[in-house]
Amino acid sequence: MSRTFKLSVMAAAVMAVAPAAQAFEAGDFILRAGVVHVAPDDSSDEVLLVGGGATGSEVAVDSNSQLGIRATYMFTGNLGVGVLAATPFKHNISGKGGALDGVDIGETKHLPPTVTLQYFPMQSSSALQPFVGVGINYTTFFEEKSDLGELTLDDSVGLAVEFGVDYMLNEHFGLNAAVWWADIDTEAEIKGVTEKLNVEIDPMVYMVGFTYKF
Ligand code: NI
Repeated sequence: MSRTFKLSVMAAAVMAVAPAAQAFEAGDFILRAGVVHVAPDDSSDEVLLVGGGATGSEVAVDSNSQLGIRATYMFTGNLGVGVLAATPFKHNISGKGGALDGVDIGETKHLPPTVTLQYFPMQSSSALQPFVGVGINYTTFFEEKSDLGELTLDDSVGLAVEFGVDYMLNEHFGLNAAVWWADIDTEAEIKGVTEKLNVEIDPMVYMVGFTYKF
């Protein structure tokens, strides 16, 4: 056997018995796809009809699940920047309490792109990579619909915090789970029907999916 060939065989043997390849390190791009569930912790001002009519009702926003994608770019072995994107969430809006209790007010779609700075405390060699992140959520509402008139919801900018974990099964594939909270506050109105009111959506968001590391 040539010396080069012997060295190659030895190198291959060493690689075969080496522990799992380094999980996350500087320059890595990590993509996660899965199901994202948005569960609003909703509350609002009272719905007031134009002209001063009190209703005694708040509005409620229901939950929704969509396909989500989260990506992280690692600056170092411990710090990355994360981005969340998803197919549009769709929520029904209804009355809660008072004269409008249970009344269907309308629906809206929204997209909540979120950018966070993420800290991964484990060593690069660890297959298990928990992280915490903090950043900014921008939520834009669109395709608002109501049988009662022209429903509008203003865009929201607010704090987002997250906690998650990736578990790498091999160098490229893994599983992930994450939960985060976003401060999503909007002003809503049905033009000519209701006064503007503040609505706090402030959802907990959950995701489980697959991880692919480039
Ligand atoms: Ni809030």
